[in-house]
Amino acid sequence: EKVILAYSGGLDTSIIIPWIKENYDLDIIAACINVGQDDDMSKVEEKAIKSGASKAYIENVVDEFVSDYVYKAIKANAVYEDKYLMGTSIARPLIGKKLVEIAHKEGAKYIAHGCTGKGNDQVRFEAAIAALDPSIKVIAPWRIWDISSREDAIDYANEKGIEIPVTKEKIYSRDMNLMHISHEGGAIEDPKNEQPEDLYIMTKTLEDAKDEAEYVELYFENGEAVKLNGKEMKPSAILAELNKIGGEHGIGIEDILENRLVGMKSRGIYETPGATILMSAHKELEHLCLDKLTYQYKQMLSLKYAELVYNGTWFCQLREALDAFIDKTQETVTGWVKLKLYKGNIIFAGMDSPYALYEHSISSFGASDFYDQKDATGFINIFNLPLKIQAMTNKKNEK
Ligand code: ARG
Ligand code: SIN
Repeated sequence: EKVILAYSGGLDTSIIIPWIKENYDLDIIAACINVGQDDDMSKVEEKAIKSGASKAYIENVVDEFVSDYVYKAIKANAVYEDKYLMGTSIARPLIGKKLVEIAHKEGAKYIAHGCTGKGNDQVRFEAAIAALDPSIKVIAPWRIWDISSREDAIDYANEKGIEIPVTKEKIYSRDMNLMHISHEGGAIEDPKNEQPEDLYIMTKTLEDAKDEAEYVELYFENGEAVKLNGKEMKPSAILAELNKIGGEHGIGIEDILENRLVGMKSRGIYETPGATILMSAHKELEHLCLDKLTYQYKQMLSLKYAELVYNGTWFCQLREALDAFIDKTQETVTGWVKLKLYKGNIIFAGMDSPYALYEHSISSFGASDFYDQKDATGFINIFNLPLKIQAMTNKKNEK
């Protein structure tokens, strides 16, 4: 019998290999899914084998990740609790899908992951597995063993002679892909603490960010960025380049005390330089190209979309239905947007679209054929009528 282990080489997944060997009679196949994290994947594979896995898969899914997941979240303007662009959440369904595919290739009935029993990721991986193959059984060691903290996990790794990328001093739980890096745990857990100075990996601090502003111009087709600074590029290349540019300008840091799906609040610090720029440009273009009713209705759906992504309910009918709605709205979200980047700020610097709904002759203060200022008198009388009635009623009841 075989088990597919979602393997990153990090603390949690590293110690799972010896633990499964001790507790189960299963062949361990490590699945290293490359979603753009900054690791040398051949080293990760080597480490998996050295730790006791009998085989390792390395799958590069970066292009699929950006085109089919990140770009959908951006078209939806999906943001969790006003701050979090969900770089981790949005990658989990794709990783889950790949795990199931590998399980099918290998004829494995088990999938194991290194998520703790206190977080969101366990729910997301298992949602994907449930939706794609409900017959697969999950092994979640963090919910079974008696290792109860990251400190204990480090001790266990040392005991088993497994190299790990963290120390008790630098104990952060991090998750990286091409969209972001997350930081949780350690000193961050106390909301009284300011962000540690040496935390950032993708982004410069505002103090170290470039002193000169820089412009970027994005061209969108149907809500998807296809050109950066005049050059046609594939989505993953656009995101990678924007990460570099945004990182230099200290763009896209969020520090949030978020509500986890499993009930508790948790502090997360996220670096999302490129996707923050992309979403900002996309929102500007929607201001220009969507009509008022569609724009405002879509705003409400953004919240629902974010909730689905955060909770890991990606493979479901509602998410597909929302995508269909969103794609319909994006038929006119085509055009260019220019932004100025400076010390963590993204400043709007111009845009245009063949579908622009902004009509200068109507919107400017001058006279126009379609708008007669005299009409406003009757409109205001009727629009404000309920307020007059309310005021009269209040007055009557005052005595
Ligand atoms: N709190 C964030 C989320 O739920 C980040 C999770 C990070 N995951 C990790 N395994 N380090 O999306
Ligand atoms: C974990 O608990 O495994 C990471 C954090 C999370 O899933 O929310």
